Amino acid sequence: MFSTQGPSLRELAIQALSSVERGYDLLAPKFDHTPFRTPDSVLDATADTLRPLGPFRHGLDVCCGTGAGMRVLQPLCQERATGVDFSTGMLTQARTTHPDADWVRADVRALPFTEAFDLAVTFGALGHFLPAERPALFAGVYRALRPGGLFAFPIGAPPPVTSGWYWTLLGFDLAMRARNAVWRPPFVMYYRTCPLHAVRNDLTAAGFTVTTTPLTALGRRQDGSPRYRLILARKAGTPT
Ligand SMILES: C[S@@+](CC[C@H](N)C(=O)[O-])C[C@H]1O[C@@H](n2cnc3c(N)ncnc32)[C@H](O)[C@@H]1O
Repeated sequence: MFSTQGPSLRELAIQALSSVERGYDLLAPKFDHTPFRTPDSVLDATADTLRPLGPFRHGLDVCCGTGAGMRVLQPLCQERATGVDFSTGMLTQARTTHPDADWVRADVRALPFTEAFDLAVTFGALGHFLPAERPALFAGVYRALRPGGLFAFPIGAPPPVTSGWYWTLLGFDLAMRARNAVWRPPFVMYYRTCPLHAVRNDLTAAGFTVTTTPLTALGRRQDGSPRYRLILARKAGTPT
C-alpha cells in the first residue's frame, strides 16, 4: 500500500498516537506517497462530472491537505481557488506545490468564510468528523457559498458484507474506537460513520438541496451499482 517514499511503520504508529492535527503535521512531507491522498482517478471523475455545471468563479477545497483538490478546482474556476485545513504541515506542502492558490489555516468545524465561493469540494476527509460534528461543518460550507453555490464530493458505496474490504474497514474502525477509549488525544478517523443517507440528511438539514450522480468512470460493484457517487448539494438562490 505504501511506496518506498512513504512513511515507515514506526512513523505511522507515532502519527496514529497523536491528535489529528499533529498526526497530519508529521505525515505531511510523505503524505502524497500514501494511499490516504485522493487518487487522481477520483479527482478526474469528479472534475468531469462538475465541468458541465460550471464554469465557477471562486472555489474552496475543504480539508485540502497537500492540495490534491486543486486538480479539480483550478481548471473549473475562473478566479481564485482556496484550500482550507488545520494542519500547518499539510498547508506548507500545498503552498509549495500550488503557489498560485490561496491557503487558509482553520478548523473546518468553524469555517471563517461568508458567501465567498461558488463551488466547494472535499475529498477523503469526512471520516475525521463524528456524526455530531457534521452539522457545524455543513453549516459552515453553506455559509461560505454564494447563493446558488454548489458543494460537491465523492462518496464510496459500502462494500458488501461478503467482501474482505468490509471486514478490513470494520476492523479499522473497531481498532480506532479501542485506541480512542484508552488514549488521549483522540484520533478521529472512522470509515463507517458517513453512509450516504446520513450525509444526505445532514446536508438537507443545513439547507442544501441534494442530488447524487454516479461516477461511472470509477467502476461498478458486482450488483451493477456504481462504486462511487458524487454528492451535489446546492445552496438556495440564483448565482450572481
Ligand atoms: C486524508 S487527508 C485528505 C487531504 C486531501 N483532501 C486529499 O484528498 O488528499 C484529511 C485532511 O483533513 C484535515 N482535517 C481533519 N480534520 C480537520 C478539521 N477539523 N479542520 C481542518 N482540517 C481538518 C487534515 O489535516 C488532513 O489534511
